[in-house]
Amino acid sequence: MKATQPKPPILKYFILSLIVSLPLIYLLFSLKSNPSVPDSKDLRIRPGYTSYDIYIQKQLNKTLNPKLRQIWRTRDWDRKIQVFAGFFEELKQKGLLSNQSKALCVGARIGQEVEALKRIGVSDSVGIDLVPCPPLVVKGDFHHQPFDDQTFDFEFSNVFDHALYPDKFVGEIQRTLKPGGVSVLHVALSRRSDKYSANDLFSVKPLVKMFNLSGLVHVRKIDGFGLDTEVVFRKKQNIVIQRS
Ligand SMILES: *[C@@H]1O[C@H](CO)[C@@H](O)[C@H](O)[C@H]1NC(C)=O
Ligand SMILES: *[C@@H]1O[C@H](CO)[C@@H](O)[C@H](O)[C@H]1NC(C)=O
Ligand SMILES: *[C@@H]1O[C@H](CO)[C@@H](O)[C@H](O)[C@H]1NC(C)=O
Repeated sequence: MKATQPKPPILKYFILSLIVSLPLIYLLFSLKSNPSVPDSKDLRIRPGYTSYDIYIQKQLNKTLNPKLRQIWRTRDWDRKIQVFAGFFEELKQKGLLSNQSKALCVGARIGQEVEALKRIGVSDSVGIDLVPCPPLVVKGDFHHQPFDDQTFDFEFSNVFDHALYPDKFVGEIQRTLKPGGVSVLHVALSRRSDKYSANDLFSVKPLVKMFNLSGLVHVRKIDGFGLDTEVVFRKKQNIVIQRS
């Protein structure tokens, strides 16, 4: 008589179900491969950016597009400066910006907003973008701003939707603002931005959550080149910075 040693059926089913579920486990992990991204109902990171290089390449494709740059420089130049100057004058009247403010424009392309700040008297203004555009815009990635902590009194950006890591984008603004400094974001809440966007925002809630060293100053509707909402934060005065 041949003595067979059958595997206990429970073990067999366990191994079988493990094999069957492996692809599913893999899928779940690959979807969650960006743990620092605050993906939520009100802030969605667009899929398809498999690496930071691919993301940067796509952003550069827009920034370097010669046709777009030509339009920005010519047809758009004066019109945009005028509209930006209007927004900044209002912020001045509300006491959120002054001629003495040291100001940064984040993701400034060729720098119309920087020029607008200078024209209304905020002379110490500069922009950053992946591609520099001297003298208004220096080279800098908004996920890793090339500035020391507590450098600026005022930061403006209308490219939040281009951030692949919104929490880093916000973290860098908060890091480089002085205590009491003001950050102004122009965002699209009720309409979708362009194909170069890396995220979609559906309410101001995720911003309030990420601006965790700041207080919300105001939210108002605007008409700003396809962006419909202005959100303003002020960095708190007394922050205990913990370093490890
Ligand atoms: C950027 O543009 C080039 C040339 O137009 C194209 O070959 C490349 O695939 C684009 N890259 C991305 C990431 O869109
Ligand atoms: C700020 O600068 C502008 C432009 O140079 C000037 O017209 C304005 O009077 C200045 N404002 C203050 C409060 O000094
Ligand atoms: C604020 O958020 C950042 C990034 O999410 C986090 O690293 C930091 O610890 C938070 N700070 C406070 C004071 O909650």
